[in-house]
Amino acid sequence: MASNSFGKIFRITTWGESHGKAVGVVIDGCPAGLNISEEEINQQLALRAPGKNPFTSPRNEEDRAEIYSGVFEGKTTGAPISIIIPNKDADSSKYESIKDLLRPGHANYTYLKKYGIFDHRGGGRASARETACRVAAGAIAKKFLEKEGIFLLAYIKEIGNIQATVDHSKLQQNPQLISQNILFCPDERATKEMIAKIEAARNAQDSLGGVVELLIDNHLAGLGDPIYEKMEANLAAAMMSIPASKGFEMGAGFMAASMSGAAHNDAFVCQGNEIRTSTNHAGGTLGGITNGMPLIARIAFKPTSSIMKPQETVDKKGEPATLQFPEGSRHDPCVAIRAVPVVEAMAALVIADSLLFNRCCCLER
Ligand SMILES: Cc1cc2nc3c(=O)[nH]c(=O)nc-3n(C[C@H](O)[C@H](O)[C@H](O)COP(=O)(O)O)c2cc1C
Repeated sequence: MASNSFGKIFRITTWGESHGKAVGVVIDGCPAGLNISEEEINQQLALRAPGKNPFTSPRNEEDRAEIYSGVFEGKTTGAPISIIIPNKDADSSKYESIKDLLRPGHANYTYLKKYGIFDHRGGGRASARETACRVAAGAIAKKFLEKEGIFLLAYIKEIGNIQATVDHSKLQQNPQLISQNILFCPDERATKEMIAKIEAARNAQDSLGGVVELLIDNHLAGLGDPIYEKMEANLAAAMMSIPASKGFEMGAGFMAASMSGAAHNDAFVCQGNEIRTSTNHAGGTLGGITNGMPLIARIAFKPTSSIMKPQETVDKKGEPATLQFPEGSRHDPCVAIRAVPVVEAMAALVIADSLLFNRCCCLER
């Protein structure tokens, strides 16, 4: 199985399955001299972990990252950083009765077709457990971004057709509005309505999708490289690699298709010493390179595929069957919520990589 790595200079390789002994990540290319502790990584992992609130799955994986290499006396040394996260709450028994059934919305059919073998326990390599490794690596990338003065966060923008209203300047002053909210949504009114929708879906043995919005404010023009390393291309690849992601857009995104050129073009204006644009329909990039305006992207997540409602399917031999998850099975009613820290981590990895790319783009500026 190839393709377990992401990034060019700041490069991660993840390994492990959801019901194996552990999952882990090796980070290559992280500059030396960055302060990092296991505690900081574990704080990020706690945001992604299931069982933290009633709107994520009650699985109680206690994620504790251990740094095995690349960090000495609290600082990165420039050597490969290896992080291991043991799997402590892997209950495989729930999968026994359904192990021969093709699960709608899941990867077991396509993995079986491609590899001829599938680790049915929790989804094996296709499981979102792998995203814990991305969050651990992202915690280190975030430290690098912090050093460079780059502000980055993600939050729930929409669940069950309820849209959050978000004031970006308020959020920049008070990012805790996200971490303190049970759904990672910085709009109290929308949160209440979203909770009602999630509860209704769960009572109906069903699930919901959602949209995560990403905001990166760098005031730094010049990140991202033409042609195949365009900022939006790399962000799209990062986001679309997250399990259950189904759509990506920046700025006006798909709305741009129904706008006129005059309405869509962002006019350049001079603000103090900086050149900015009066609107931000482009979402912060032109020609694949950041223009100094906030990078704004939205990622659509499909509704959780594992639902308690019985579903018609077939078994591995193609015989009709009914998929019924056993009582007590543990799944997220809306995966978009736990995807928020994963979106932040992947975005941080893309930006860290592009910062390092920039160190070799021209001799003098
Ligand atoms: C953080 C996170 C948690 C997830 N938890 C679940 C879950 O509890 N149940 C489920 O059916 N899918 C869950 N998923 C999504 C599946 O992993 C994913 O839909 C499946 O592997 C098929 O891949 P695809 O949707 O990318 O095609 C989760 C995704 C993320 C990002």
